[in-house]
Amino acid sequence: MPLLIVMLVFLLSASSYSCKNTQKSYVTTKSTISQSGGLATAHPLATEVGIQILRDGGNAVDAAIAVHFALAVVYPSAGNIGGGGFMMYRDKEGGMYALDFREKAPKLATQDMYLDDNQNVIPGLSTKGSLAVGVPGAVAGMEAAYERFSQLKDWNKLLEPAITLARNGFYLTALQAEKLNKKKSTFVEINPAIESPFTNSKSYVEGDLFVQKDLAKTLTAIQNSMSEGFYQGEVADKLVAQMKERGGLITHDDLQAYEAIWRDPITFMYKEYTVHSMPPPSSGGILLAQLFNGVEAHDFKGFHSTEDMHRIIEVESRSYADRAHFIGDQDFYSIPVRELTSKSYMAERMSDYDENNATLPDSTSHGNIESEETTHFSIVDQAGGAVALTTTLNGSYGSSLIANGGYLLNNEMDDFSSKVGHPNLYGLVGAEANKIEPEKRMLSSMTPTIVEKDGQLYMVLGTPGGSTIITSVFQACINVMEYGMSMNDAIQSCRFHHQWKPSEVFYEEDCLNPSIIKNLQSMGHTMKSRSPIGRMEGILVTKDGYEIAADKRGDNHAIGY
Ligand code: DON
Repeated sequence: MPLLIVMLVFLLSASSYSCKNTQKSYVTTKSTISQSGGLATAHPLATEVGIQILRDGGNAVDAAIAVHFALAVVYPSAGNIGGGGFMMYRDKEGGMYALDFREKAPKLATQDMYLDDNQNVIPGLSTKGSLAVGVPGAVAGMEAAYERFSQLKDWNKLLEPAITLARNGFYLTALQAEKLNKKKSTFVEINPAIESPFTNSKSYVEGDLFVQKDLAKTLTAIQNSMSEGFYQGEVADKLVAQMKERGGLITHDDLQAYEAIWRDPITFMYKEYTVHSMPPPSSGGILLAQLFNGVEAHDFKGFHSTEDMHRIIEVESRSYADRAHFIGDQDFYSIPVRELTSKSYMAERMSDYDENNATLPDSTSHGNIESEETTHFSIVDQAGGAVALTTTLNGSYGSSLIANGGYLLNNEMDDFSSKVGHPNLYGLVGAEANKIEPEKRMLSSMTPTIVEKDGQLYMVLGTPGGSTIITSVFQACINVMEYGMSMNDAIQSCRFHHQWKPSEVFYEEDCLNPSIIKNLQSMGHTMKSRSPIGRMEGILVTKDGYEIAADKRGDNHAIGY
């Protein structure tokens, strides 16, 4: 292409994104109907990036790649290149694919790396700083998705919006400014003497321009050399040097050995629906099957009725007990997937169900639910291809360690079981199946999910929320399938959660009827209100078109086209 045309194309593509970026505040749409598809993501600018790719002829996978990189810029608390995640893809012919780009333990990791001499867990070691970091999978994941399914076949174009947003900056939302300010002292503690927009002394307010020049350079290296630009060369050298200097374990060998993996989705029937979700190392698909199987025989009485909530709580509790015992990375540990997901297993598991009383384990302590952050987006393209993708750094801003390339590194190592029975950041306990081993993937709850009805695309959804992800996805599905809600109502309505240990039912503050709370308490449930649960993005196929909905709990934004 002659130089002039190259420059013109660059300027046009750059200006179309920077022009979207002249607004200092954002108006978000929580629900929209569209005839030909669309998407919902956690940030308005990422949603804009995705719709532009779809309009330019990209398919859902192209849009997902561009959105994933854009979120690494405009949603740095969870969007990432230094983390990992999972993607479910249904192509327009109905082929179903699951991509695993979960982080891995470094080769030098050991089972007791977070324990002191007395075998006690050292607080903070698996959550903050260099030792908390798993080998990132995001860039390899995006490349794998691109190589197999891109329609545009234009990697440069998919990276360009993210690079522009990092280089020119974007305006912070009020929520983002607040979160960055709250985290400032941790950033400074973990990254002494680093100059970055995360550590500077400025107190942010809504509308401040957030510029990430170093990140723009790293993204440009990825644009130029695809995953080699991240796992090899200068970006990799810098990360390995930083790890050495800061007592981390990741080596060049780890980076070069990282591979994203296509896996067989977990697929099961619930009544007239076929549900497809993520297999291990996510527990999402297996638990979702257990949850659905556990309520299939139940006669639903009504949304948030005592009877339905009691049943769901009891099913959730039993399923999470199984999660702690049976599930880990299937490349390292044999998981009885067929048994766990069978209808007969769950029928047996519910045989001691008492419709009048809670049958819950002894209480145990739980982790900190304040700093959770992951992000999910759902996309449907014009041809009916669909992507559900959940990606994370684990905690909010991950390990808080800023790589020398200007991107944040995950603290996903905390998703391993540091010690049998010791609760992680989300209060989840684990044992042998999820112990730390070199090159193993840590167990996840991320549950990107695609549902079919009569063989046709029906629903695309997922959410952040740590351990609450699986129960949130389940409840949103039930809201649609059993209570006849719209996607928007299913997403915005109140959620509750039980995860076996601690022996408590968490529910979102001020949203349950006090009489239902009383009823459940009198049955023996310990009820505990908490901050909002998850931030879901969902798409439902309706007779009027695609209903695209974005969670009211954040800056989430839905667009159709
Ligand atoms: O993979 C997991 O299950 C966790 N690392 C996800 C963390 C998360 O969802 C935090 N979010 N709000």
